[in-house]
Amino acid sequence: MGNAPPPDGPEGPPTPGGASTAASVVVEVVDDPLLEPDGPDDSGLVQPSALRPASDLERLEIDLTLEGIYRHYGFDFRNYARASMRRRLWNQVRAEKLTTISALLDRVLHDVDCMERLLLMLSVNVTAMYRDPTFFRAFREQVVPLLRSHPFIRIWHAGCSTGEEVYSMAILLEEEGLYNRCRLYATDMNEAVLRRAQTGIFPIEVMQEYTANYLRSGAKEHFASYYTARYGHAIFKQSLRRNIVFSHHNLVTDGSFNEFHVIICRNVMIYFNEQLQTRVHELFYDSLRRFGVLVLGRKESLSGTPHQHDYEDINATEKIYRRRSV
Ligand SMILES: C[S@@+](CC[C@H](N)C(=O)[O-])C[C@H]1O[C@@H](n2cnc3c(N)ncnc32)[C@H](O)[C@@H]1O
Repeated sequence: MGNAPPPDGPEGPPTPGGASTAASVVVEVVDDPLLEPDGPDDSGLVQPSALRPASDLERLEIDLTLEGIYRHYGFDFRNYARASMRRRLWNQVRAEKLTTISALLDRVLHDVDCMERLLLMLSVNVTAMYRDPTFFRAFREQVVPLLRSHPFIRIWHAGCSTGEEVYSMAILLEEEGLYNRCRLYATDMNEAVLRRAQTGIFPIEVMQEYTANYLRSGAKEHFASYYTARYGHAIFKQSLRRNIVFSHHNLVTDGSFNEFHVIICRNVMIYFNEQLQTRVHELFYDSLRRFGVLVLGRKESLSGTPHQHDYEDINATEKIYRRRSV
C-alpha cells in the first residue's frame, strides 16, 4: 500500500476550493473534457501535479495493468499520456472500492464488465454539439467553399464519441446544401459510445446549451427543428443519419480505410504521447487527399509532428489545416 495515493486522506488529490471528498475529485476529473494530461489546464480542476510523484512500484503496476489490458482485451493504452492514465486508473480504483492498481488489474482480467467500466474511464468520452462554436463557424466560412467543387465528399470524424460532433456537422452541411453529396465516417474505438451515437438521441437538458452553441456557430435555422422532444430526450431527425456511417476504428492499431477530403480529429490526440501522435499523423497524412483538410482540437497542434511542413494553415486558431500538393 506504500505506493498508493490514499483515496481521501491528506495526501490524496486536493479538490478545488479546499473541499476534500474523494467523490468530488472523481467526478471533476472525469467530467473535465479538455484536461491536458501533462500541460497547463485552465479549468481550475485537479492537476496531475496534485498527485504525489509515482513510486517505482506504482509505475510498475501501471505498466502491468496497461500491458494486461492490451494482451487480454486488445485495447492499447500503453502510449497514452502517463499522467492522464495514472489519474484515471486511480479514479477507477476508487470507483471499484479497491485500494491498489494491481487489484484493479486482477478484477479487470477476470471480469469483462469491469473492463467496460474502465474503458469508459480511460477513453474520456466527453463531447458536445457545436463544441467550440467558432470552429464550426470557421468551417462554414472557410472550408465549405473549398468543398463545393467536389461531386462527392468523404469526411472522417476520428474519435467521434457519442456522435454530437458528427450530427453537428451533418446539420451544417445540410444547411449549406452539401449534405446529399457527403458521406461522414464516424469512428471510435469504444463500441459502447458508438451504439449511443447511432441512436441520435441526447438528453433534453443539454439542448439549451447546444442551442446557444449552434447560434454562435453561424446557424441558419431553428435548432429545435432538427429534433423532437420526447420522454426527456431530444430525438434527432432520422434524415440526418442518412449519410453517416458509424464504425469501429482504433487509431492505435488500425490502418487507413479510405481517402478523405476532410479528416476531423478533435480532442483525441491530446491524450496520446508523442510516439502515438506521430503514428496517427502518419495515418491521417496517408488517408487525406492532396489539398484535403485536417482539423485538430483547440489544444492540439501540428507543430513538432513529422508532417508539420506538409500542411498550410487555413485557420491556425481553429486548428484547420490544408494538405499541400506533395
Ligand atoms: C474527448 S472525446 C472527443 C469527441 C469529439 N471528437 C469532440 O471533440 O467532442 C475522445 C474520443 O476519442 C476516442 N478515442 C480515444 N482513443 C482512441 C483510439 N485509439 N482510437 C479511436 N478513438 C479513440 C474516445 O473513445 C472518445 O470517444
